[in-house]
Amino acid sequence: MAKKGPAQEIDHLRRQLVEWNHQYYVLDDPSVPDSDYDAAMNRLLELEAAHPELVTPDSPSQRVGGAPLPEFRQVNHELPMLSLGNAFSAQDMVDFNRRLLDRLGEGEQELEYACEPKLDGIAVSLLYRDGALERGATRGDGTTGEDITHNVKTIRSVPLRLRGRGYPSLLEVRGEVYMPRSGFEALNDRARERGEKLFVNPRNAAAGSLRQLDPKVTAARPLELCSYSVGLVEGGELPGRHSDILERLSGWGLRINADSRVEKGVDACARYYDELAARRDALPYDIDGIVYKVNEIALQERLGFVSRAPRWAIARKFPAQEESTRLLDVEFQVGRTGAITPVARLEPVFVGGVTVSNATLHNADEIARLGLKIGDSVIVRRAGDVIPQVVSVITERRPRGARPVTFPERCPVCDSPVEREPDAAVFRCTGGLVCAAQQKAAIKHFASRRAMDIDGLGDKLVEQLVDGGLVANVAGLYHLTLEQLVALERMGEKSAQNLLEALEKSKQTTLPRFIFALGIREVGEATALNLARHFGDWPQLVDAGEEALLEVDDVGPVVADHLRQFFDAEANLDVVQQLLDAGVTWPSMARPAAAEQPLAGQTWVVTGKLEALSRDEAKAHLQSLGAKVAGSVSAKTTRVVAGPGAGSKLAKAGELGVDVIDEAALLRLLADNAIEL
Ligand code: IVH
Repeated sequence: MAKKGPAQEIDHLRRQLVEWNHQYYVLDDPSVPDSDYDAAMNRLLELEAAHPELVTPDSPSQRVGGAPLPEFRQVNHELPMLSLGNAFSAQDMVDFNRRLLDRLGEGEQELEYACEPKLDGIAVSLLYRDGALERGATRGDGTTGEDITHNVKTIRSVPLRLRGRGYPSLLEVRGEVYMPRSGFEALNDRARERGEKLFVNPRNAAAGSLRQLDPKVTAARPLELCSYSVGLVEGGELPGRHSDILERLSGWGLRINADSRVEKGVDACARYYDELAARRDALPYDIDGIVYKVNEIALQERLGFVSRAPRWAIARKFPAQEESTRLLDVEFQVGRTGAITPVARLEPVFVGGVTVSNATLHNADEIARLGLKIGDSVIVRRAGDVIPQVVSVITERRPRGARPVTFPERCPVCDSPVEREPDAAVFRCTGGLVCAAQQKAAIKHFASRRAMDIDGLGDKLVEQLVDGGLVANVAGLYHLTLEQLVALERMGEKSAQNLLEALEKSKQTTLPRFIFALGIREVGEATALNLARHFGDWPQLVDAGEEALLEVDDVGPVVADHLRQFFDAEANLDVVQQLLDAGVTWPSMARPAAAEQPLAGQTWVVTGKLEALSRDEAKAHLQSLGAKVAGSVSAKTTRVVAGPGAGSKLAKAGELGVDVIDEAALLRLLADNAIEL
């Protein structure tokens, strides 16, 4: 084959990059690893540098193009970019539908609506001339916006050139540029690490990212485009239904919302709303409502516009997730490990579906970052089940006499000095076991369902026991007597008896539960389980040096250090001894020496969906039988467990002739080795 000239190679690379980009950013379905993409891009850049005459504006290398602009140019929208009327209830939507039917005067037919999530981002207009992206603009006031071509080009889901054929010679696509939540979190994490200002929400982050004169800044921001309509169309025809127009846009390489749906009649529209409202918090992006659009373009044209909004569309809003209220005070709570957490006391406000009167402020750095003063008006956010957050201060509304927040120098509970950890934002009470707050939190954790599971030992009772001086640490629980308990306020003989029985019952526990119950810093349930499996019993764990600890799955230097500190403190071992003396016990998990383990020396891979077990559980069981569990199939793999949906790993096993079993066979193997599920 003749060697390709640079022009051909460039052409080939561009086609490949455009295709991969489309798969990745528009279809969410990548076909090659990032490294292949990067290699092709590097090669293209290299060739284009050597042959500048071959560079074209729609080359994928040109996304992050030129130098910063001196200012934004203004753009006059040929067709105004409208806004939408709002509906706040199902009834508002019913009324809207009624008005349309009356206006159309066609009796009681059910109207067809295109139902779309209302993305919370920034409206943009993209002008394609003969398929090439010519201009990107913000909505601005609807008539005049700003030219942000240099910035929209950096968004990978914006095609620089339309795909396929049949598009009008002039096509203005309209849509929303938004920042997915994951990208927003990552952006703010980075900003936090660098001590920079954080963005309040994904919408503000998207807006700030688009309003950049330097496209390099925008290019580094995780923005996406979702197209939801067209503006100017010349030199070509589009279908007669809105939903079909969107399908066309999708075919031309633009991203459209996969959750959009066409529904007939208001009842179906209301069901769609309820469905999306239920999924709202689980979506990868913020939405603030549902947009309903009459689907027939001919009907849209008959309905027309009122002032700045179309008559044929409406946005039904979700309850707000952000509201303003006043910060009444800041209080300080002491946690199980002595960490002191500032908590905002707020004037009660209805947000995200509940009345909120407290919000966490995390730590001192967060207070400094917010620039918070007591008496301030603040924006509170409550999304889903996430605890309410103070996201910003409305400084313009700061009252005279607003007071700064001062961190206590002594523990508000036990008066021990407070220390700030080096390099950390956390202040800690140094009182340790003498601090009643830490005692209470430690006992509550010890008694909790996933730890020692002491039925009937609720938070209130723990407070009573500690405040009354009956119990100072977890071992004290097992010395409680019936007389002591019945003497407590609101405690009958029957409940006291039940509690003693629950305490007795809790003594028969398991090693993972026991380790977890001790409340060692950073040792959650999963780590406790790994530690128990690895060491098999308590003495081996206590004697393990740092190195041995680091061999345990998921144990890094920080956790190893916390474990060593815990075991090195005489007082802790004392409490453990008291627990053992009181009769707390568990079956040993020690296994035969490695070489005697049934799967010693074998490497397994688990892939696809399992029914009876999670993949992690399957992995842990296999490891407990001595197998190594790997993430990919190679010639060294002994066996593959494949469930439904297994893909490339199963194929690889086939190629290499590696033994494959299904879940049922795995379960038999586990049962044969006396592993209980
Ligand atoms: S249609 C004539 N569809 O909502 C109709 N807008 O309040 C104009 N938005 O500025 C807009 N998702 O930024 C439409 N699926 C969607 C939308 C949507 C979000 C935004 C858009 C617009 C604002 C209108």
